[in-house]
Amino acid sequence: MIIAIDGPAASGKGTLGRRLAEHYGYHHLDTGLLYRAVAAALLEAGDPLDDEAVAVGMTSRIPLDGLDAPALSTHAIGEAASRVAVMPGLRAALVDRQRAFAAREPGAVLDGRDVGTVICPDAAAKIFLVASPEARARRRAAQLGLHSQEGYRKVLEDILRRDERDTNRAVAPLRPAADAHLLDTTDLDIEAAFRAALSIVERAGERS
Ligand code: C5P
Repeated sequence: MIIAIDGPAASGKGTLGRRLAEHYGYHHLDTGLLYRAVAAALLEAGDPLDDEAVAVGMTSRIPLDGLDAPALSTHAIGEAASRVAVMPGLRAALVDRQRAFAAREPGAVLDGRDVGTVICPDAAAKIFLVASPEARARRRAAQLGLHSQEGYRKVLEDILRRDERDTNRAVAPLRPAADAHLLDTTDLDIEAAFRAALSIVERAGERS
């Protein structure tokens, strides 16, 4: 079974994806890490973030199972990732490996922006997470240890900028698949969001 979780920046996709994968004993891929890894490699090499050929060349060096999530989790890399993610050739170069991951037995959870729409349109369960930008900024600021009002405001600005870029790009924009279940986590803690997601997946499993 494939579980697809999509949603905007800091909507809790990663945490939810990990929890669902643990619950079912499935593999888990945070697809945002792929774009983050390419962005980090370009930054490190001093290459421009819009050089598609160089970015595509870097994809073969990205280990799907060995991505260093903590090192890639900085805000600067997230911002750079959303800039490289607009390149159609780069997205195309990453499709096959994501699909191969999704086909792993006994099942897989993939989270990102285009899992339900492009990568795994036939996924048995699709969840599209939403939460207000303010709730997402509060959570992300807390994760980053930014407790000042200024820190919160900067995170909120970054989130709004990333939402705008991810939603309005020409290729694989952030949007729910027609058959995705919308889950609003604005007022839910992690446990409540997990229980709500679980019931969506259980119902989808009964139908498939
Ligand atoms: O989810 P995360 O914040 O780690 O993603 C970083 C960036 O990578 C996003 O802002 C988005 O532009 C891009 N991304 C994407 N498609 C995905 C996952 C992430 O375009 N499936």
